[in-house]
Amino acid sequence: MPIKFNPQTSMFFIEAKDTSYVIKLFKGKYLAHVYWGKKIKEFEWMDIDITAGRVFGATPDPNDKTYSFETMPQEYPAYGNSDFRHPAYQIEQEDGSRITNLVYKTHRIYDGKPKLEGLPATYVESSDEAQTLEIDLYDDLIDLKVTLIYTAYKDYDAITRSVRFENLGKQKLKILRAMSACVDFPEGDFELLHLWGSWARERYIERTPLIHGTQIIESARGESSHQHNPFIALLSKGATEKFGDVYGFSLVYSGNFAAIVEKDQYNLVRVTIGINPFEFTWVLDPGEKFQTPEVVMVYSQEGLGGMSRTYHKLYRKRLCRGAYRDKRRPILINSWEAAYFNFNEEKLLALAKEAKELGIELFVLDDGWFGKRDDDTSSLGDWFVDRRKLPNGLDGLGKKLNEMGLKFGLWFEPEMVSPDSELYRKHPDWCIQVRGRTLTQCRNQYVLDITREDVRKEILRMMKEILKAAPIEYIKWDMNRPLTEAYSLALPPERQKEVFHRYVLGLYQMMEELTTEFPHILFEGCSGGGGRFDPGILYYMPQIWTSDDTDAIERLKIQFGTSIVYPASTMGAHVSIVPNHQVGRITPMKTRGIVALSGCFGYELDLTKLSQEDKEEIKRQIELYKRIWHIIFEGDLYRLISPFEENVAAWMFVTEDKNEAVVFYVNILGEPNPSIKRLKLDGLDPDKKYIIEGDEKIRFGDELMNIGIMIPRTWGDFNSHMWILKAVLG
Ligand code: DGJ
Repeated sequence: MPIKFNPQTSMFFIEAKDTSYVIKLFKGKYLAHVYWGKKIKEFEWMDIDITAGRVFGATPDPNDKTYSFETMPQEYPAYGNSDFRHPAYQIEQEDGSRITNLVYKTHRIYDGKPKLEGLPATYVESSDEAQTLEIDLYDDLIDLKVTLIYTAYKDYDAITRSVRFENLGKQKLKILRAMSACVDFPEGDFELLHLWGSWARERYIERTPLIHGTQIIESARGESSHQHNPFIALLSKGATEKFGDVYGFSLVYSGNFAAIVEKDQYNLVRVTIGINPFEFTWVLDPGEKFQTPEVVMVYSQEGLGGMSRTYHKLYRKRLCRGAYRDKRRPILINSWEAAYFNFNEEKLLALAKEAKELGIELFVLDDGWFGKRDDDTSSLGDWFVDRRKLPNGLDGLGKKLNEMGLKFGLWFEPEMVSPDSELYRKHPDWCIQVRGRTLTQCRNQYVLDITREDVRKEILRMMKEILKAAPIEYIKWDMNRPLTEAYSLALPPERQKEVFHRYVLGLYQMMEELTTEFPHILFEGCSGGGGRFDPGILYYMPQIWTSDDTDAIERLKIQFGTSIVYPASTMGAHVSIVPNHQVGRITPMKTRGIVALSGCFGYELDLTKLSQEDKEEIKRQIELYKRIWHIIFEGDLYRLISPFEENVAAWMFVTEDKNEAVVFYVNILGEPNPSIKRLKLDGLDPDKKYIIEGDEKIRFGDELMNIGIMIPRTWGDFNSHMWILKAVLG
């Protein structure tokens, strides 16, 4: 049984694959955190300093001075009664007090995993895949019920957590903070890893020691953001790709988030993660409930690599959904870098014809097909076809593409409106705004107030009309600016700090409705590249455009960083033209292919202008992708050499049965008279014999992993190599 409560010891034992998580019910009232880490046997003692016993220690119970919340590791701590650290939650009451005292009432353990109303979350396909523990805590003075929800997966080292608040009383409560989880680590010798970035430079890896004090990784932009991903990991000092304890926290949420790491005077480390409390307050009327997003906590004793592989498998199989979850995605050509806004039907069909001849399967028409959109200054919100560019409409274009044997895909930016649009002229009150104040523009556009049902309905109506009329089998859902002046004309003053979260709930409602009604469509998320690359979006859309930076060398870091949490099957990756449009770099077509192969593979360039040599290389890449996609999409990733640390990036994928592997190696800058280099592989079966395609020698897995393979010497910058390995069976 993955979850058990022992009434003799008052302890909850939660087990997920090789992980244990232990909670002690202290004095029959409070939830003390005892342990999270490698699986251990059930035990009876609890050797943790939770007693006061400190000079100037604050004790919350005048009749029992043996404990203090200041030193007690807790599951869901409050602020204001002897704990001075960042709390997990805060509730303001009608008298202005923010003091609460949550006490254990009851708990339930059951098979399976509950859905979270209106929110994305990991799931189970059958109830024996996981068990769930719900612990009800009450504050009787204000009739508040708080339920801590834990799910332990049997086959993954993953525990998910979320929290439900319920106002059972008569007064209005204000939730000032409602984090999804808190973990109090009883020691502090950790390093903090997080993924930071910017537009075109998303998810760079940064690793820092924990300081005494507080480190916060957050977004206040209304989207999970290019700048910080809703993820952090704590690593035991010196942990590597292969070794050491790693604790990952990944929030299934697409809006403002915060991951707060606090190391205190006693070297205790507290992690809280959830909706960013900055600019957040939720009014909970009597009888109402509030559900927090889910955090997926992964423990690995095999370093960062082990943690990533757990996230990859779980997110691929139990977060992503839909017809394309387990399918090879069609190889696409996207019109953006090929034509930008400058196209007509003839030009698109010429591109499509070339694409078909090279073996491409899906034609994606990006921005510029609607309203009067000749540049980015107009027409968002006017979701009807521009007949000047497409006289036969989308259905006409779609039919011709289908006749050529290509699928048809289309770009939308449903959450936005241009000031120069019919929609804005008709409904100026439909965007997020503060009455009487100048509205900030970003890429010449405003954000629609999708906290409102009428706005959501109208946008969806326009989109559905198009999807019903034209043979569309793919949608790219873009979002190209953060939220500013976050205020809704449709909400009362006291609910204005709900806007950011209501926006995300509105977004999820739209995505749920559209993906349910059009289950055959492959959806790809996007936000000015990878500004909303998060698990929340992956619940609705199995792939996301990783970055607007398509340069192969830039992509090494972007994809390497993204792979810390997200599997290759979720990363949109395209081969584009040189000189590259973002950095002006010239890289070989082979290297551009090798980098894009480790994702949802496609092209984004004017194929009609390529040399015969490039076209032949593209044909080879497409054939190769069809042969090896299953190793990349379904296999385990092993990161071998980090482009953040060296002049090289190397990584490989190995199928679960360890019979097939593919290895990638990119040398960034050429070196004079280079040293002799070997690449030690990983993840193979040491006892299996492998053959490398193109080389008849047979080698054992242990040889390949301990001695390695020789890297051929190359001339020039940006060269790459790839090896396909197969086990010799029988
Ligand atoms: C930003 C996206 O990331 C690009 O790929 C492209 O779709 C443009 N928007 C179109 O405006």
